[in-house]
Amino acid sequence: MENQIIELLKSTNRPGIENLIAFMQKSDFFKAPASTRFHGCFEGGLAEHSMKVYEILKQKVKNSVINLNVPKESIIIIGILHDICKVNYYKVDYRNAKNALGVWEKVPYYTVEDTIPYGHGEKSVMMLCEYIKLTNEEKYSIRWHMGYTEPKELYATIGEAYKKYPLALLTHEADLEATYFFDI
Ligand SMILES: [Fe+2]
Repeated sequence: MENQIIELLKSTNRPGIENLIAFMQKSDFFKAPASTRFHGCFEGGLAEHSMKVYEILKQKVKNSVINLNVPKESIIIIGILHDICKVNYYKVDYRNAKNALGVWEKVPYYTVEDTIPYGHGEKSVMMLCEYIKLTNEEKYSIRWHMGYTEPKELYATIGEAYKKYPLALLTHEADLEATYFFDI
């Protein structure tokens, strides 16, 4: 999975991508879970989820009911990097729980330690922009990939963004499908 992701990112030829890959390799991107308790809460869950979103988004763009002219590299960047905000974000903690024999023991679990408290989609965009230049379509797609799970005060803005950049809506759909159809 790690090699596949790195090859895809390199194939975009985006200036700065090598530095971004180096950052990802130094970080826990390939080890992190995708959440603490919900989808993909296991080691490597984030990388697996990111790859899935990329694959689904590629399909969606290909089969889109409207005419989309999306560069191949944008699908790679959006799909694989939309959740980069989750890098260095989860840590393992321990709580006491009784095991099957009724004996107390320490059980590991994921908890959140957000050292860059800048949000979610907007944090991914900010982090990526430190390494590579994003097109507006990429920025909007990553910023609004959480769609209508954002606070309802943002719905009107999200609607406008989806009209302006249909790829952003497809990204939200791909994220939902990857989460509910494939993550365990
Ligand atoms: Fe996300």
